[in-house]
Amino acid sequence: MRPLRFGIVGTGTIAHRFARAICHVPQAQLAAVASRSAETGEAFAREFEIPLWFDSYESMAQSDAIDAAYIAVPHSGHVGCTCMMLRSGKHVLCEKPMAVTAAEGERMFRLARENGVLLMEAMWARLVPGTLKMLELVRQGALGDLLGVEGKFCYTMDEDEMDHHVFRPEHGGGALLDVGVYGLHFARWYLGENVQSMSAEASIFGGVDKHTCVLLRYASGAIADLSSAILLRKPNEGYVYGSRGYAYLPRFYAPQRIVLHLSDGTQQTIETPYAGNGFEEQIAHFCACVAEGLPASPVVTPESTMYVLRQMDAIRRQFGVRYPQDALSEG
Ligand SMILES: NC(=O)c1ccc[n+]([C@@H]2O[C@H](COP(=O)([O-])OP(=O)(O)OC[C@H]3O[C@@H](n4cnc5c(N)ncnc54)[C@H](OP(=O)(O)O)[C@@H]3O)[C@@H](O)[C@H]2O)c1
Repeated sequence: MRPLRFGIVGTGTIAHRFARAICHVPQAQLAAVASRSAETGEAFAREFEIPLWFDSYESMAQSDAIDAAYIAVPHSGHVGCTCMMLRSGKHVLCEKPMAVTAAEGERMFRLARENGVLLMEAMWARLVPGTLKMLELVRQGALGDLLGVEGKFCYTMDEDEMDHHVFRPEHGGGALLDVGVYGLHFARWYLGENVQSMSAEASIFGGVDKHTCVLLRYASGAIADLSSAILLRKPNEGYVYGSRGYAYLPRFYAPQRIVLHLSDGTQQTIETPYAGNGFEEQIAHFCACVAEGLPASPVVTPESTMYVLRQMDAIRRQFGVRYPQDALSEG
């Protein structure tokens, strides 16, 4: 079967990581890149030996040279770029969070259904070997009944980066949307959706949340304790707690190592390395879904993306961060 021909939208940090990964996935081919600038597009294309580059996202959407688009622009651009590609009949793998608001997300999935193409949030972390292994261990009862999860994804930007989109409300910036999204997906993987109460606190900087802590209590009694930050470093790690012990997960949402501490006093370390930089699994999964003609990914489901988008809307309401996109959704 012919490889799925991808075009990348945007040429920033994550577009580079995607381009480095895709050459290791035989089912995929990097066919084109689109930038707002011809110069940047050409430089990116030369770096990765991509045959085609475009000086606008619109022109790549119109091209027959791609079957699928990978959206790698700031959060505020996800809805516009995705909808443009879906209308042109392209399958779309869109960076996280797939949208700034749940209302945007609903529009995007509706358009994908109407156009009979696949739309998936690039929640690569759900597909890496460490997450698959941890979920298997939990299913097998290695930790007993689950009592809670904990995860911290906190980093700090440099002072000269203050004009970055992560600090801009109009781009859907802030810690929750940028990295807190991983914690919410992580909590959902292990504890499900039956949340009975949620409380959130955030420190606000320039209209976005710079440090955010969220507590979720589930009907089972389990509790998720999640934090995210863009101007504060914490150890990037997490735990899954159960009645028979706990698992320590460095880089909790996409671990390459699982350390089990069991109640009988034993400890076991399981290595779960990525195939490459961690993106290969999601690219291969996306290609398999398209090849099988699936309307949606059965793993990174539209329901999971929508569930977390709604949670993020509700969490932001608690601490009062509003984006221009909220007014559009309400209007
Ligand atoms: N999966 C992950 O691990 C991961 C990690 C980091 C980021 N991300 C996500 O990937 C997306 C992009 O993040 P990034 O870190 O790659 O950002 P970035 O380095 O700033 O790159 C974003 C790219 O988007 C394009 N763009 C379009 N409109 C823009 C605007 N108004 N301002 C700035 N750039 C604009 C630019 O490409 P052109 O100038 O060529 O058009 C730019 O190079 C975000 O959704 C982010 O959350 C995911």
